[in-house]
Amino acid sequence: MYYPDDVIEEVRARNDIVDVISQYVTLKKKGANYFGLCPFHNEKSPSFSVSPGKQMYYCFGCGAGGNVITFIMEYENYSFGEALKYLADRAGITLPEAEDSKEARAQRDLKNTLLEINRLAANYFYYQLKQPQGRPGYEYLKNRRLTDETITHFGLGFANKTPDDLYRYMRSKGYDDSILKETGLFFIEERGARDKFWNRVMFPILDVNNRVIGFGGRVMGDGEPKYLNSPETKLFDKSRNLFGLNFARKSREKYLLICEGYMDVIAMHQAGFTNAVASLGTAFTAQHALLLKRYTDQAVLTYDSDGAGIRAALRAIPILKEAGISAKVLNMKPYKDPDEFIKNLGREEFQKRIDEAVNSFLFEISVIRSEYNMQDPESKTGFYNAVAKKLLEFPEKLERDNYTEAVAREYMIPAEDLKRLVNSLGERGGFALRTPEQERPKKKKEKDDGVRKSQRLLLTWLIEEPKLFETIRGIITPEDFTDELYKRAAGLVFDEYEKNGSIEPARVLNHFIEGDEQYREAAALFNARLDESLSNEEQRKAFSETIKKIKRFSLEERSKKASDIRELQEIIRQKSELNNLQLTLE
Ligand code: GTP
Ligand code: MN
Repeated sequence: MYYPDDVIEEVRARNDIVDVISQYVTLKKKGANYFGLCPFHNEKSPSFSVSPGKQMYYCFGCGAGGNVITFIMEYENYSFGEALKYLADRAGITLPEAEDSKEARAQRDLKNTLLEINRLAANYFYYQLKQPQGRPGYEYLKNRRLTDETITHFGLGFANKTPDDLYRYMRSKGYDDSILKETGLFFIEERGARDKFWNRVMFPILDVNNRVIGFGGRVMGDGEPKYLNSPETKLFDKSRNLFGLNFARKSREKYLLICEGYMDVIAMHQAGFTNAVASLGTAFTAQHALLLKRYTDQAVLTYDSDGAGIRAALRAIPILKEAGISAKVLNMKPYKDPDEFIKNLGREEFQKRIDEAVNSFLFEISVIRSEYNMQDPESKTGFYNAVAKKLLEFPEKLERDNYTEAVAREYMIPAEDLKRLVNSLGERGGFALRTPEQERPKKKKEKDDGVRKSQRLLLTWLIEEPKLFETIRGIITPEDFTDELYKRAAGLVFDEYEKNGSIEPARVLNHFIEGDEQYREAAALFNARLDESLSNEEQRKAFSETIKKIKRFSLEERSKKASDIRELQEIIRQKSELNNLQLTLE
């Protein structure tokens, strides 16, 4: 969707960031800024700041940052277009339609129509459940101990025995076959049309914004297949949605519970565990993990206790780890799944199991253990080797040692022996075990980071005190910033100053929202932590050091790339000038 820059800027400027964020986060004023608990990571003391002056938010804990548009995108999981529309509506601005490409508009209209049909279908199923013909469905759900409140909360419903009930209903609402085909809710053929879901209890699947995007339907009893699910459509991407996440994202719990089935999610929510989600009858994917990462960095796997559940957990663990989510695994025994467990032992017992859930690595080891016979010496050796090999998955020595010790304790293996085995296996297998000496290459990176930090400081300083631009005139230009993002941000900031004599960082950020979504990184550039406790004299010194550091690094980089002697001489001249530089600060 293409909106002109001035439209985007109007929408941004007419939505005060403090007003908007206050709808979601409790903010308290502290000095010039507001602070609250960060909605993008879990914390107990507020490190999430909102600056009315900059019209930006920034979290010193997790680095989330941006302007009012990116806040709505992240919080509501909206696309840029959706966030802009939401904020435009909020400010009473009518967005122009014209700049939409024809295909883009057609796509969006199709998506909206599909949403409309899914919503209507969900209402229809829900209505049916409460009718006399829906009695079997209602009784089935009641037998599974769902309360009326739960049924309403999840919008559960019933698909009639009549084979084309829903189809006729949709036709009566004026939808034609070509669009109904796209919903995945019907079989439409030459000889006629039928409903996909028929004589089943219905579970609407909602995205994080509570929009119905598909359905699961269960037979009442033992028929096959047990569940039918909507196929993937333009709306319904099974690897990017999770059942229950619309509720779970609002939970105050630090972790999410991940399970296998719709009924498990519902049973857990009913028992008060409103942080439970399930994948949609498919395997857990990397996209799922990234989706969850927006809300948490901890998960407890509550998969079925059978072989399939264990295999599913083993597959999910590395995927979660890769996304930066640490996982634990809950022991469900002697029950099959959370629904049965809670029905039999109740919520307190389930909470206990959550508290006792084991670290995913130790879970993996316990699964390996079950494959070996510890009475047989050869098999036992095999187990030790398998454990050692698994431990080699930790590249960092310290972490590897910690786990080696934990495993040794758990399985009563002498820790020193296990360590020796890990090391010798590591050397033999050609695994590059990293020891402190080998970590040296990091040094250069650290220096880079130091310079980048100075660059962030400088940009923040310039934004807060534009008159400093006069001080650095002729010394620092956007070209002195290191990587592309920094250069580009600095370029925009310098331009703003030249044009207006002041800078509105939130407007600068507009440039980073669409496309690569680099706004998070860009936001960090304008929110370096300035040490406010410094005296004026100390601040002056710190500023001048910052300038010199940036310029020196930039000159060094240039001299590395310099191709002729003239250029080199010029760089040397600038270097000596820099050494004698006295900044004139008021
Ligand atoms: P109940 O048996 O009603 O308690 O459901 P459950 O949620 O415990 O289901 P189960 O553990 O058997 O399966 C987990 C999930 O896999 C379900 O929620 C469905 O999403 C999916 N699933 C189960 N059976 C089928 C099936 O026959 N076909 C398809 N497509 N998906 C299924
Ligand atoms: Mn079940």
